[in-house]
Amino acid sequence: MKKIILAGFAATVFAGAALAGAHGSMSDKRVAAMKEMGGAMKAISDVAKGNAAPSADTVAAAKKLNMLAQNSLELFPEGSMEYRAKASIWSDWAGFKAANDRLIAASADLVTATETMDAGKIGAALGATGKTCGGCHDDYRGPKPS
Ligand code: HEC
Repeated sequence: MKKIILAGFAATVFAGAALAGAHGSMSDKRVAAMKEMGGAMKAISDVAKGNAAPSADTVAAAKKLNMLAQNSLELFPEGSMEYRAKASIWSDWAGFKAANDRLIAASADLVTATETMDAGKIGAALGATGKTCGGCHDDYRGPKPS
């Protein structure tokens, strides 16, 4: 069992390294981390919609989301304005950090909600979490470059 978990972990690490190696930009790392957040949100949303039963995996997805949020700011070093990252991230770092703090707090509440295994509570907490994603994107993420 332990071996399987370790193999899974190594696969994740190597997949991440391959992704970063492809372009190596901070933006690639950010997009990869944000996509992982999106994946966790999707897994939890399947439960909220009743398409999957609440389980330990749901709790794990919420914890992963919270962990990624806690590490998010490190992926935005000063001057790494690439792809969709707006200059306002660094000119208004306090506001950007506050937006990320809202996600950290909402995803912590989401962990608590998933632990109840109650789809209704999970759905409410998921909605609140999603608003913090959109709130930050509205202010600090630009349009997709064409
Ligand atoms: C503190 C601000 C902030 C929060 C909170 C945030 N994001 Fe982002 N997100 C960004 C920025 C800025 C980018 C663009 C990064 C870049 O282009 O380098 C981005 C990019 C993305 C992308 C990459 C795809 C693309 O084309 O932009 C996805 C997917 C994404 N976010 C999903 C999420 C989800 C899901 C959440 C909530 C669980 C979330 N984000 C929360 C700021 C945030």
